[in-house]
Parts: sequence; structure tokens; C-alpha cells
Amino acid sequence: MIPQETIRTAGLTRAFGGKEALSDLTLSLSAGEVCGVLGPNGAGKTTLLKLIAGLLRPTAGRASVCGFDSVRQQDDVLRHLGLLIETPVFYDHLCAQENLALHLAYMGTAGVVDDALARVGLSDVGEQPVGQFSLGMRQRLALARATVHRPAVLLLDEPLNGLDPIAVRDMRTLFRSFAADGMSVMLSSHILGEVEQTADRVIVLSQGKLAAAAQIDALRAAHPHDLEDHLIKLMNGGSSCRN
Ligand SMILES: Nc1ncnc2c1ncn2[C@@H]1O[C@H](COP(=O)(O)OP(=O)(O)O)[C@@H](O)[C@H]1O
Ligand SMILES: [Mg+2]
Repeated sequence: MIPQETIRTAGLTRAFGGKEALSDLTLSLSAGEVCGVLGPNGAGKTTLLKLIAGLLRPTAGRASVCGFDSVRQQDDVLRHLGLLIETPVFYDHLCAQENLALHLAYMGTAGVVDDALARVGLSDVGEQPVGQFSLGMRQRLALARATVHRPAVLLLDEPLNGLDPIAVRDMRTLFRSFAADGMSVMLSSHILGEVEQTADRVIVLSQGKLAAAAQIDALRAAHPHDLEDHLIKLMNGGSSCRN
């Protein structure tokens, strides 16, 4: 069976003030796949995710989600996407259930709040004000909000920043469980270990350009002792063969 393609970009390019933040990026992602976007600060990770979501317009090239063009069909794109791009904002005086119900009403989409909360392990605290939540709980609630409409694709921009090790582990398990359900997950990070332990495949960005794209297993096999050095070199613009 050919895996269903969910994200496709072709020659995707975005410049700010004449300087390219993302250059000529062509990639595709399949249902059920977790793709890590690895790169140092300023490499173009957020720009890539925003272009896929249609939150930025490309200077050249295009992106699509489930066959819908990210610029011309942004409403369709957003229906198929779960987004975690900026620090999530909630109504702190309202409970988790109310926050998700308001989100669904605002978006005009269908979804089951209790299921979404159960999925991220927040059923027991669904009636507590979100202002009482820890950072890890807020991030899990953000994930519940991003997935309450059961999107085909989840875009996560540095979703593990600032979390303690237990919360990082819990989030990673959740990303994998969404992928096991057939969702495509694209997550960015500047931390190698986060990508290596979460993703099936990694793309490395360096100054807006694709420095490498490879399956994590293939990378590990090719660099059993120096994977970290190898990826750091790529992130800093060093050359490498592609797997
Ligand atoms: N709105 C903007 N205006 C001007 N420059 C921007 C804007 N957004 C991003 N950039 C620039 O584009 C480059 C890539 O940024 P970004 O995609 O945020 O990188 P990353 O997420 O990998 O840290 C950086 O040089 C950044 O300064
Ligand atoms: Mg960023």
C-alpha cells in the first residue's frame, strides 16, 4: 500500500527584506510519519511551519496539506491541521473543558472535548481552572486543543521548550500515539536529542537551506558513534551525503 501523502512542498521559498529565510525546499510527508525539523535558531524552522499552515505567503514555490494549497485554500488547510506554533494562550479563569469548548465554537468545527482531554491524560483535571496548571499540563492542553478536531496533520514548533524531563517524555509518547493513529506529525527543534528520540525522519535546515534529509535509523546506522557531531556539522552548514 502506498502511504497517503499529507504534506507536500515544492521549491518553497520565503524572503524577508531580500534575505531568504527558507530557500527552495521540496519535501513530502506521509500519514503516520513523524518528521523532525532540526536547525539552530534562525535556520527557518518556524518560517517553514507557517508557510505550510498558510500563515505566511511564499515568495516562490508552494505548499499543500492533504492536497489543498496553503495560500489559495487556507480554510481547507486549517481544517486538516493541528497547530502548536506559539506559546499557547488560554483563558486562565476558565477550566480546561470550557477552553476547548470555546475553541471549537470559535473555529466552527466539530470535536469531542472529553475525548481530546482523555487523549492527553487531562480528564481528571478537566474542570480545574487552567490558571492552576503546570507548564507541562498547559502544553498537554495545547495538544488537546490542536487535535480536538482530529486533524490529519500536526505541526509543532519547538513543542518541548521549557518542559521538565517527565513532561518531555509524556509529550513524546503523545506525539508517537497520534502518529500511530495515522496523523502526520512535523515537529521542529534545535535540540538533536528531541528529534532523534521522537521522529522517524529528520530534515536538517541550515540558514534556510536543506542540509540533509534522512531516516533516523539510517543515520544511526551510518553514524553509530558520531551522530551528534555529524548533525551539528550539518546544522552549521557542513557538507554531508544524503541518505
Ligand atoms: N517576520 C519576519 N521579518 C523579518 N525577518 C524574519 C521574520 N521572521 C523570520 N525572519 C528571519 O528569518 C530567518 C528564519 O527565522 P525562523 O524561521 O524564525 O527561524 P527558526 O524558527 O529556525 O529559529 C531568521 O533570520 C529570522 O530573523
Ligand atoms: Mg522558530
